[in-house]
Amino acid sequence: MESFIRNFVIIAHIDHGKSTLADRLLEITNTISTSKLVPQFLDKMNLERERGITIKMHPCRMLYHYDATLYGHESGFTQLDHKSNVNSSSSNYILNLIDTPGHVDFQYEVSRALAAVEGAILLVDATQGIQAQTLGNLYLAKLHNLKIIPVLNKIDLNSPDLDKVKQEVCDITEVNAEDVLMISAKTGRGVRELLDKIISEIPPAKKDDQNILRALIFDSRYDPYKGVLVYIRVFEGTISKNEEIYLMRSKTKTKIIDVGIFTPELVKKDKLSSGEIGWVATGLKEPSFIKVGDTLTLWSEIEKGTKIEPFPGYQEPQPMVFAGFYPENNDDFENFAKALSKLKLNDASLFYEPETNEALGRGFRLGFLGILHYEIISLRLQQEFNLNIITTTPTVPYKINLKNQTSIIINNPADFPSSGLIETIEEPYIEMEILSPNKYLNAIIKLMANYRGIQTDLKTLSGELLITKYEMPLSEILLDLYDRLKSVSSGFASMNYKIIGYRQTDVKKMDVFIHREKIESLSFITPNVNLYSKARDFAQKLKNIIPRQNFPVAIQIGTEGEILARETIPSLKKDVTGYLYGGDRTRKAKLWAKQKRGKKRLSEFSRVHLSPDVYRNIFLNKNKP
Ligand code: GTP
Repeated sequence: MESFIRNFVIIAHIDHGKSTLADRLLEITNTISTSKLVPQFLDKMNLERERGITIKMHPCRMLYHYDATLYGHESGFTQLDHKSNVNSSSSNYILNLIDTPGHVDFQYEVSRALAAVEGAILLVDATQGIQAQTLGNLYLAKLHNLKIIPVLNKIDLNSPDLDKVKQEVCDITEVNAEDVLMISAKTGRGVRELLDKIISEIPPAKKDDQNILRALIFDSRYDPYKGVLVYIRVFEGTISKNEEIYLMRSKTKTKIIDVGIFTPELVKKDKLSSGEIGWVATGLKEPSFIKVGDTLTLWSEIEKGTKIEPFPGYQEPQPMVFAGFYPENNDDFENFAKALSKLKLNDASLFYEPETNEALGRGFRLGFLGILHYEIISLRLQQEFNLNIITTTPTVPYKINLKNQTSIIINNPADFPSSGLIETIEEPYIEMEILSPNKYLNAIIKLMANYRGIQTDLKTLSGELLITKYEMPLSEILLDLYDRLKSVSSGFASMNYKIIGYRQTDVKKMDVFIHREKIESLSFITPNVNLYSKARDFAQKLKNIIPRQNFPVAIQIGTEGEILARETIPSLKKDVTGYLYGGDRTRKAKLWAKQKRGKKRLSEFSRVHLSPDVYRNIFLNKNKP
């Protein structure tokens, strides 16, 4: 039976207007009254609002009255409430929208949402044209066989390149120009036509209530009142309040407390049926039982021995950026551990394992999908859990092939084996796609030469728009590539990447000695080509950050027993002769000699304590999306 449910996502490059379009959809369908509608309404997290970016996917259900007889004219809509039954005799539709993030670091969010829907609105900013993430998301949507509706946004800005951008969109989506909708998410122009198109073109969600329940868990989070909530798409059967359910992959049985829908607030319902998107309060308190991608079914069927085919599940995300995270106050360690388990529930791509550090105490090594992800998690820990965290420098993992024929993967420079044991080292490589107008190509090629990138492809995507591909180590993009790419292309180039595996590399572990003591937490890994400059830069940085002591402090940086850079922090000056009047040189000389002996003794027996402040200043890292 054809259903009156349409499930879809909005996908786009960052800032092309997804959240603003979601606002208009909420407004036109009267899901949120205009008086309550603040811009980017679905971006609920403080951080999302502060940074103006979407970090999490946000599902929302809307009701819409579609009048096919009016199609072609202004289509009618009426305000419906979520209790009204949507059935085949009416043309009231349930629209389930999932707003998704645009940045490559959050692509795992996008791919999970794509598995729960039948269609995707591909939104392109008419002033920017196709950008790297537009393409990345389009590939993903095609992989999921979704119906794609191409839409040009921001037409109120009267972009002089409108026709050119339209042609780009036609080229990549293989549709005719008249099939590209032109809208302004800001003013609302064209958005009602888009709603009608969603209904007429996105395949209806299949109704299959008679079958045994199979629902896909595509997200989860911890709710202080309801415990662990899972976000589900029901593909077959129905699920009702108080039923006993079974999570097939985590092999967990539980009696659910509530089920409901997102409006986008959590609204309770008695049941969810096939085709619907909603939430389930699992009654579980332990976050580790929940795995996104898991299949939810009825316990009664498992008891009966019914054979139920689980969904294939999601590919495990591969964290590729790691850093040590330590609570500033060591008493916060237990709270930190709890916070991480809750964050993990809401961010399945986060990895963590305990580690300790001589200076920072007990903490965790966290793994991320990229550098923006690293930064966002640091901020979430502070804002949502009130934890002050010190983090060490982000690093990629290295695969070390040892002489004894075994291989290990290390994600902490401190764990690097001694060079005598190592046969070869491999590091993660990416395939980077850079989209840019033709005229910036030379500048981009010049820039990429500094990043160990090898150009593997160059072709025209459409008109002046080029796509250049590079293979390069992931570690190269951790620092400043994004900013520099934007700067050499006046903001017009955009990049996207995917991991293509480990490749052999020439890197060394650099050891850092402060006042003769080796400080493992400061060690780092760097390519052989710039050992000296990296050592020198870091020694100078440390000299400026470590506070002066009562004795001179040597900073040495080197590798395999050879020191490559050295700096000295002079001692604090104390005037030991200040109280002497007149010019009695011999008395002064005696006092100076005594001071020198004292400093030497102090220097021999002292250690330099590196406070959390020192670490914070060393590793302070600013990264923009
Ligand atoms: P991410 O979630 O970070 O990927 O961004 P987004 O795609 O959700 O973009 P968002 O809706 O936050 O819009 C980005 C900026 O573009 C905001 O300043 C919006 O006000 C603006 N914007 C969005 N749509 C339009 C439009 O149709 N016209 C104009 N003039 N500005 C728009």
